[in-house]
Amino acid sequence: MSNHLAAIPETGIASLGLHLPPLSMRVEDLATLRGVDPQKYLVGLECEEFGVCPPDFNVVDLASEAARRAISRWDGDPADIGMVAIGTETAVDMSRPLSAFVAERLNLRGNIRSYEVKHACYGGTVALRQALEWRLSGAAQGKAALVVAADVATYAQEDPGEPTQGAGAVAFIIDKPDIARIETVSYPYSSPAFDFYRPVGDEYPIVDGKLSLDCYKQAAESCFKALIGKEDPGAIIDSFEALCFHVPFPKMVRKTVMRMGEVFGWGAERVNDMFHDKVEPTMLWNKLSGNAYTASLWISVAGALQGLRTGKRIAAFSYGSGFGSELLQIIAGPLAAEAAWAEDIRKDLAGRGRLDGDAYRILRDLGTLKAVSA
Ligand code: CAA
Repeated sequence: MSNHLAAIPETGIASLGLHLPPLSMRVEDLATLRGVDPQKYLVGLECEEFGVCPPDFNVVDLASEAARRAISRWDGDPADIGMVAIGTETAVDMSRPLSAFVAERLNLRGNIRSYEVKHACYGGTVALRQALEWRLSGAAQGKAALVVAADVATYAQEDPGEPTQGAGAVAFIIDKPDIARIETVSYPYSSPAFDFYRPVGDEYPIVDGKLSLDCYKQAAESCFKALIGKEDPGAIIDSFEALCFHVPFPKMVRKTVMRMGEVFGWGAERVNDMFHDKVEPTMLWNKLSGNAYTASLWISVAGALQGLRTGKRIAAFSYGSGFGSELLQIIAGPLAAEAAWAEDIRKDLAGRGRLDGDAYRILRDLGTLKAVSA
């Protein structure tokens, strides 16, 4: 009997691909449509634009194209992919996993474990962790995994969440750590809550806005406390080049960082400096994509990894309503410096059309922004 455990390969992110939908809207235009002061969305929530899917485009298109881009940049052979795991809360079927739709498009078949992971916005991170742990356990026998985090975030018209909508997908090939390594030890925290949920058959989520904010902050505080333990918070935070967060809307992240500052006993200036240096720059792409649920944290991480020298560290906080969360530590590899995946965002932003209020209203009234339908 061969001992597969003897040959556990180095593991991490070997390749990245991203995809944003072909339409967008500025939050000022939504504010005008809804008769709201634009400053509420721009300053109150710190949102700028959000991605919108046209009628003939959905989460399968997002996930498949991100995956195709990640595979095209990988120096491995697609025949060596032994796992396809997709985190999403935009399921297109209650039984058939999104991974089957994507595998069909990309012609991935054979000795592959293929499945969908659901845990609200945390699902993509769970899929990623499973792929890492599958490789590190030796069970993968050296095969690579394709992991995708993909979602279309849509709220009911006039819902307070409407300006925080968005969509996007991030795909990873988990193989050699050419772009980044992920520390095996991570810091999870969960506590059951009904902060944000979408009952089976419902088109839009039911949101307890205040509770969702409280749960998110509690999760972040607990995960960072677990990471810091008895160490000096300043030394631990300083060891990271960037702190990336799940970004339901950018103000949520600012509020969370301010809360962390209170917990650490830091004054306003120190917390503001930390936010300005290590957090705000990671949300540039999120401010253009809007919330992409499972993909949101990973859009931020992909932005933060750009140009990093080998060995530089990032902290990544994942949150999913319900709720579950996990704090990961990511270490840049040699291909982070050239950041080939940034081209995906440049291309998608340059090619996307902009909806005005009338066009958006027509799309919504036609019901074509539904998260479902394959
Ligand atoms: N000018 C400037 N600011 C203004 C303003 C104006 N004219 N009018 C209001 N504001 C500010 C408010 O003061 C407030 O800021 P602070 O929180 O700093 O005080 C901010 O705008 C928001 O206003 P409201 O408190 O009135 O809140 P709202 O009714 O607009 O709802 C929300 C906000 C609850 C976040 C809503 O957008 C929502 O339900 N979003 C979806 C849920 C969500 O994203 N939750 C986050 C945690 S859950 C999660 O992370 C999972 C996920 O991805 C969804």
